[in-house]
Amino acid sequence: MFSLFQTVLLLLHLLPSLTQASPHHFAPKPAYFLLAGDSTTATQSVGGGGWGDGFLNYTLKSGSSGHNYGHNGATTKSFREGGDWARVISDAKAKVGDYAVYVTIQFGHNDQKNTSGVSLEEYSGNLEAFAKEVKEVGAVPIFVTSLTRRKYNTATPPKIKQDLEVQRNLTLAAAQATRSRQIDLNIASTNYCNAIGTEAAWGYNLHPTDYTHLNVHGSVVFGRMVSELMAKRYADIGAVTERNLTLSREIWDGVAA
Ligand SMILES: *[C@@H]1O[C@H](CO)[C@@H](O)[C@H](O)[C@H]1NC(C)=O
Ligand SMILES: *[C@@H]1O[C@H](CO)[C@@H](O)[C@H](O)[C@H]1NC(C)=O
Ligand SMILES: *[C@@H]1O[C@H](CO)[C@@H](O)[C@H](O)[C@H]1NC(C)=O
Ligand SMILES: *[C@@H]1O[C@H](CO)[C@@H](O)[C@H](O)[C@H]1NC(C)=O
Repeated sequence: MFSLFQTVLLLLHLLPSLTQASPHHFAPKPAYFLLAGDSTTATQSVGGGGWGDGFLNYTLKSGSSGHNYGHNGATTKSFREGGDWARVISDAKAKVGDYAVYVTIQFGHNDQKNTSGVSLEEYSGNLEAFAKEVKEVGAVPIFVTSLTRRKYNTATPPKIKQDLEVQRNLTLAAAQATRSRQIDLNIASTNYCNAIGTEAAWGYNLHPTDYTHLNVHGSVVFGRMVSELMAKRYADIGAVTERNLTLSREIWDGVAA
């Protein structure tokens, strides 16, 4: 006969297989990524362009896909007031039956401006509300700290001016407060731009003097960085994304791509 202790051990052992499908018997659902954010996430256009399209176009396995909801000029406030957030949530709701749905949340570049009408307290509260609403529809929120601006100080060699650190920290705090996922794109992109130096980093500029937005090549590079930051931390995302060892090595070795 089993002792009570052995029975408890056995139940603990069986519990995971009773509550979740075994990967050996059921193929995982494909993923659908909804990207909420400002112009540093958005599709390349005259006034903006971020990592979102590079991520969606080149890093997902066949069957998985998504939609870039990045909006040029958006703050956490305008994104909701202008209707973008409602579109994200209604799309997420529509996809949860057939896909594992993820919503990336990256704001800060515009909230930061003293003309934004968003205080730091409101910024934090808005971020936390986004995460809660994503969970309510059965999707997974992933906070992404802001892509660095490629503006350098006058040190030798020049170093990135970390002008988004307050927003970075508050985004990580919002993730913690809501027990949500997060990746630190701000630090990863800062470290990379410090490693490759000004000339290479400015090769990703949308226009020669636009140090904030990315051209198509920049979107491919930083889209890959986002994909790998997520895949490294979260195995379920690792399972729906595809590696590119060449580009990956360049990124993590600090070599210009
Ligand atoms: C992504 O794909 C779209 C549609 O084919 C294309 O217009 C866009 O330039 C691509 N962007 C990147 C960054 O690859
Ligand atoms: C707002 O920011 C601008 C540009 O950074 C600065 O010149 C201005 O002094 C700031 N205004 C206030 C009220 O802080
Ligand atoms: C942000 O957080 C880091 C610790 O992760 C801390 O060292 C830094 O001082 C914080 N910066 C600001 C501006 O709050
Ligand atoms: C991987 O990245 C390299 C370097 O950016 C690129 O030339 C190549 O086309 C990529 N391969 C795939 C399969 O996307």
